[in-house]
Amino acid sequence: MTYGETAVDQTIDQLLSDHRDLDAAADGALDNFDQFHIGGADAVELLIPTLALTQGDVVLDVGSGFGGPARQIARRTGNHVVGIDITPAYVDAARDLTARAGLGDLVHFHAGDIAGFGPDPAFDAALTMHVQMNVRDKTTWFRHIAERLAPGAHLAVWEVCQPHQADLPWPMPWSLDGTDSFVVTAETLLACVKGAGFGTVEWTNKSAWVQDWVAKTFANGLPAEPALPMLLDDGYTRVINYVTALADGSLEVWHGSFTKDAG
Ligand SMILES: C[S@@+](CC[C@H](N)C(=O)[O-])C[C@H]1O[C@@H](n2cnc3c(N)ncnc32)[C@H](O)[C@@H]1O
Repeated sequence: MTYGETAVDQTIDQLLSDHRDLDAAADGALDNFDQFHIGGADAVELLIPTLALTQGDVVLDVGSGFGGPARQIARRTGNHVVGIDITPAYVDAARDLTARAGLGDLVHFHAGDIAGFGPDPAFDAALTMHVQMNVRDKTTWFRHIAERLAPGAHLAVWEVCQPHQADLPWPMPWSLDGTDSFVVTAETLLACVKGAGFGTVEWTNKSAWVQDWVAKTFANGLPAEPALPMLLDDGYTRVINYVTALADGSLEVWHGSFTKDAG
């Protein structure tokens, strides 16, 4: 089962104990570790301006993983961020890392499905990074996100698309064997987001940007310090397969900026 790592918290504890020089409270210290998408913290930096945040806005991160994007947004902007994720062990890890980072007042996480998530008032902005590949009915899923947002709220997405039908090399970061993978073309994904009640501000193929990021990030090989694949079952194979599929054009990465339709 993908996302079946139940002992993430213990793995994090062990890795941070083994690397006492790593100050989990320092800005960027965990970037190799807690950003579960291609492009790492640099991708989150691209998304932050598109959220159009003002003071006091509260941001929803759907499929928040280990919480790297949520913490980074809170650090940069001072806004409150709420993450929701269906994997309880990841939510525990996100809470643990947030406490270690000293951001417990600004960043909170909930375990569960966006469909049943209903705190008031509505959120002022939302993001989702590398999550919809696991969702079969994408229009309904994005509609559930829209229902949680105030009219005019901005949504940022950073997503994997498949330009043409081809066999992918499993495992991938979001699926161990392909049975829980529902990757679609960029055109189909855009239609799902629009069909859920969002207007398009930007929809851009960032695959070339990702290639540059991969070349820069891995210029000296894999990092020796704690890194994301160490937290995941078969982590290195998943990352290598993904990077290979991006390089040969089997997969693309798209950045979307949307606003929730009024009314
Ligand atoms: C590849 S990780 C991305 C995590 C995070 N967005 C990031 O970029 O660091 C995918 C995450 O989506 C979560 N997920 C998968 N399907 C979901 C769903 N239907 N609702 C909420 N979270 C989901 C998984 O538990 C996992 O944490």
